[in-house]
Amino acid sequence: MIANILEPEFLSDIDSWHGHIPFAFELIKNLKPKRFVELGTHKGDSYLAFCQAVKHYQTNTKCISVDTWQGDEHAGENDELYGEDIYQTLATYHDERYQSFSSLQKMKFDEALPTFANGSIDLLHIDGLHTYEAVKHDFESWLPKLSNCGVVLFHDTVVKYSNFGVWQFWDELLEQYPGFGFSHSYGLGVLAVGKEIPDWIGAICSLDQPTFERWVNQFEFYGNSILSHSFKSQIQYYQSLLEQKDGQLKAFSEERDQQLKAFKEERDQQLKELAFAQMIIQRRDKRLADLDAQIEQIGTQFTGSQQVVREQKDQITELISQFSS
Ligand SMILES: C[S@@+](CC[C@H](N)C(=O)[O-])C[C@H]1O[C@@H](n2cnc3c(N)ncnc32)[C@H](O)[C@@H]1O
Repeated sequence: MIANILEPEFLSDIDSWHGHIPFAFELIKNLKPKRFVELGTHKGDSYLAFCQAVKHYQTNTKCISVDTWQGDEHAGENDELYGEDIYQTLATYHDERYQSFSSLQKMKFDEALPTFANGSIDLLHIDGLHTYEAVKHDFESWLPKLSNCGVVLFHDTVVKYSNFGVWQFWDELLEQYPGFGFSHSYGLGVLAVGKEIPDWIGAICSLDQPTFERWVNQFEFYGNSILSHSFKSQIQYYQSLLEQKDGQLKAFSEERDQQLKAFKEERDQQLKELAFAQMIIQRRDKRLADLDAQIEQIGTQFTGSQQVVREQKDQITELISQFSS
């Protein structure tokens, strides 16, 4: 049975590895590896659990995490590449607590290979890209680096959708090496690849089936309790996100109301100016109509005067002709 299980200190919103944290704690406590390497760390849920155990149980383990921290087609919830902020957040958390025995190597797995001597790694966790080809490549290229008592962990051994192929490679490996697996939290395979199988691993491998199932079940139980804990904190996280969005929405609608008020005031002012302009136009129209009427009256008077002048001119012409005859 597991005694005095540790509480995980770090849980991100990516919970795919959370269910294996109790096993990671026990593994470090019992194996006391001299060197632990993780291939694929992302936000750090698995790696920081290993580091926590190394620090807590004072196993004197040197830990190295390798990742580009750029993501791959299977990383994260949205199967996407991710940004530099993920690495920065992890590095800040990690350096404050574990820098004395652990380092984060920001590079490709293949690039990190030459920096390790053959036979120098006691515990390797492979959790990079999960296609059959990628996991086979990672295992085969890193195998020479494993020590005589080397143990390799594989995550996602039960995932059969998409192009995940760890399950298939894991089945092949179990025919060549002693090992066992968990089926909760997407599956975790534990493989003893060295000539000397660590006692604790050997003892588990030799359990009869019912005892092994009881043993596995307790890790699943503790694992699920962490999951429900992280599920609760995720709900809290999303609630706080909702509250934040709600606040943003209120601020936005207040700003919009103010803008609307300002627009209305401006529109009222323009309507007033328009009404004033219309009144001026009406007055001018009236004045123009008056002037037109005056012009017409003057025109009529002028026509009348012309008629009088014509008649007088005719009379004068007639008088002149009378005088001259
Ligand atoms: C599934 S995530 C790791 C999850 C992590 N172990 C956890 O507990 O949450 C896979 C990570 O592997 C990294 N990765 C995949 N292939 C890689 C490669 N060839 N070299 C370096 N990093 C790689 C990705 O950037 C990604 O962060």
